[in-house]
Amino acid sequence: MITVPVPAQHEADRFPAHGWVWDFLQPQPPDPLLALIGMFAADGRPDKIDLGVGVYKDSEGRTPVFVAIKAAEQLLLDKQQTKSYVGPEGDVGYFRRLTPLIFGDLDIKGRLSGLQTAGGTGALRLGAELIARAQPDARIHVGTPTWANHPPIFNAARLHLATHRHVDVATQRLCFDEIIDALSNAERRDTVLLHGCCHNPTGADFDVTQWQALAEIMAERGLLPFIDLAYQGLGDGLAEDAAGVRIVAAHCPELLVAYSCDKNFGLYRERVGALFALSATPEAAATVQSNLLSLARANWSMPPDHGAALVRIVLESDELAASWRAELEEMRQRIVAMREGLATIDPTLTPLAGQKGMFSTLPLSPDQIRALREDHGVYMAGSGRINIAGFIPANLNSFVTALAAVR
Ligand code: LMR
Repeated sequence: MITVPVPAQHEADRFPAHGWVWDFLQPQPPDPLLALIGMFAADGRPDKIDLGVGVYKDSEGRTPVFVAIKAAEQLLLDKQQTKSYVGPEGDVGYFRRLTPLIFGDLDIKGRLSGLQTAGGTGALRLGAELIARAQPDARIHVGTPTWANHPPIFNAARLHLATHRHVDVATQRLCFDEIIDALSNAERRDTVLLHGCCHNPTGADFDVTQWQALAEIMAERGLLPFIDLAYQGLGDGLAEDAAGVRIVAAHCPELLVAYSCDKNFGLYRERVGALFALSATPEAAATVQSNLLSLARANWSMPPDHGAALVRIVLESDELAASWRAELEEMRQRIVAMREGLATIDPTLTPLAGQKGMFSTLPLSPDQIRALREDHGVYMAGSGRINIAGFIPANLNSFVTALAAVR
């Protein structure tokens, strides 16, 4: 038997000048949100409720492939002749077809650059790296709470985070004054992260008047808006959910939009995203594009093709696009119905009916969240975030009962 020497656990004084490379690493905890997937799967209770990871589920608790995507997959299978590289920009047709979906008929031709990315996360990371490359000490203003992965992504790209409150979870109030205050005190060329729609994790979106006010401040103060648009179509509708982006794009010379097709095309594991960049001039847009291509090359070289090709095929076909829109609208309406159902059963959940998209965050302590999981089989993020799409009409009452039991 061969025994491989295992280095002792890292102790700084034991390895002052030498030792194995990995001895200098610290163990990292598993991502708590992703860990919920395994915990839920291991729970044998038939009436367990999964309100964890942000995945859409239908009223039977399934996450089906869209009918239009299945059809597009068949077309791709029949027609695709090669698996050769697509290039660092990814599927250009996919990018072109997404553009009007997001920006409507705004006249941004010549000032828009961008590319397909490895998921919305890839778009956020590439955008952050673009900012850091332009301004090594760049600061990004982030409203809290935010998606748990935002800070690690921006930290990894070496942006400096400045936080302000987006929502007061205890009262479910959107802290618009504090947001305006933060932007009014931001410095020229600071970046501002905004959720385009369906705020993750609170569902507290801006209305059109608020977007207008934000756009005016950002334009006036020379700030760079960075909009994360990962749930288009699941809040108020496809065009409505892009209203904020369109208002900002009409006001601000520069803008980044990180886009994800995970939820609205149901392509989660295919990692389908895109990064859109607006520049003040066509010359700047060309420089931005060359930087995006070089950053992509250094990150993933070329993005995976399959999912983006499916989105392109769907959007190229009137018939498939109509089917996709109808299915997405059904999902949106189901989420709205679950929100209204919760608010009707439990008056303390009334604010949820006014919130948008898949998430809301309840003011619960870690002990209450643990009791919900262990005693009632209700799984939610450790922050109190619930995925509304995890509800079905049959479990609304048992959720409300469980909630009352731990409160
Ligand atoms: C979520 O917020 O649950 C999703 O965006 C999945 C993820 O990667 O965190």
